[in-house]
Amino acid sequence: MEKPIYATLTSIGAYVPSRIVTNEDLSKIVDTSDEWITKRTGIKERRFAEGNEATSDLATKAARLALKRANLEASEIDAVIVATISPDFFCMPSTACVVANNLGILDKPAFDIAAACSGFIYLLSLAKSFIESKTYKNILIIGAEKISSILDMQDRSTCVLFGDGAGAAVISATEDKNLSVLDVRCSSNGQYQEFLMTPGCGSRNPASVEILQERLQFIKMKGNETFKIAVKTLTKDVVEILAKNNLSKDDIDFFIPHQANLRIISAVGEALGFPNEKVALVVQKYGNTSAASIPMAINDLYENGKIQCGSRLLLDAFGGGLTWGSAILTFNGK
Ligand code: COA
Repeated sequence: MEKPIYATLTSIGAYVPSRIVTNEDLSKIVDTSDEWITKRTGIKERRFAEGNEATSDLATKAARLALKRANLEASEIDAVIVATISPDFFCMPSTACVVANNLGILDKPAFDIAAACSGFIYLLSLAKSFIESKTYKNILIIGAEKISSILDMQDRSTCVLFGDGAGAAVISATEDKNLSVLDVRCSSNGQYQEFLMTPGCGSRNPASVEILQERLQFIKMKGNETFKIAVKTLTKDVVEILAKNNLSKDDIDFFIPHQANLRIISAVGEALGFPNEKVALVVQKYGNTSAASIPMAINDLYENGKIQCGSRLLLDAFGGGLTWGSAILTFNGK
């Protein structure tokens, strides 16, 4: 009988643009302060890409690092999938096609998915299915965002929250279940679509002078409503995935929640009983980088020596759609 094949995360990489934008910098553009932003969100600074840098440029740099750390040539990658809400181009080509071309990965499938801040969990779910169905052996998954390109720099309630960056991972086939992506759960509820949205320039409200004048091409958010539902959903999702896999929080080496807001992360971490030292925290230096947030947080833990091959990670994301999801995996980077 053929041995079962499992999906495993064999490497992580990330890239952040060099330009640091502090709360102080933003207070010169909109009516806000370092004190307000720090108190309500925990964010101290974020990165903004340069005008001539696109999402694919950030994604390509993160991907190169992930490939190097996986010790793989571009030619060994069977598929490239990107999660983003800030693609290079409005409709086509996909950002994944641009990234694949940059990396020299040709004649292989490349496509984007749209699941907002839950993008990396959705990517993991897809990669796990492709690997475990033996469709592909090595998949490059990337969460990448130039969110600054869809931020309304006249809206203080959103422009202080987000930042640019990219995180990439290689998901490969293994026969070792102990090193696998054990479980991934994805979900959504479109009833709350207006909580987080870019209302303009799609087929609902096609691009026009009026749409641009109303600034509907930018992110709009109902912050307070989103906050409450995020805390509840993120917590419930973790309780459910742990129970389904007969695990407890003590079986987890690192809890890596979506990095949107320190208050959300603390509320969820406390409700679940994770000690602070087991909870990933990078929101203070990067802000909310949407689909890039979780792989960037994993990369930060990896580069700081906090996780190594064999560490068991619990990922938990929430975002526009609404979408959410969680995953339990054993890190298999070297
Ligand atoms: N600087 C100063 N004041 C600001 C501000 C800013 N950047 N942004 C909003 N305010 C003001 C508001 O205008 C409001 O003033 P008012 O009371 O005079 O009307 C006041 O602060 C309170 O606004 P509110 O929206 O109720 O604040 P809040 O405590 O809910 O905090 C968020 C706002 C956005 C930080 C918070 O709602 C949040 O984090 N939401 C979730 C966002 C998120 O994570 N989204 C992504 C999920 S993937």
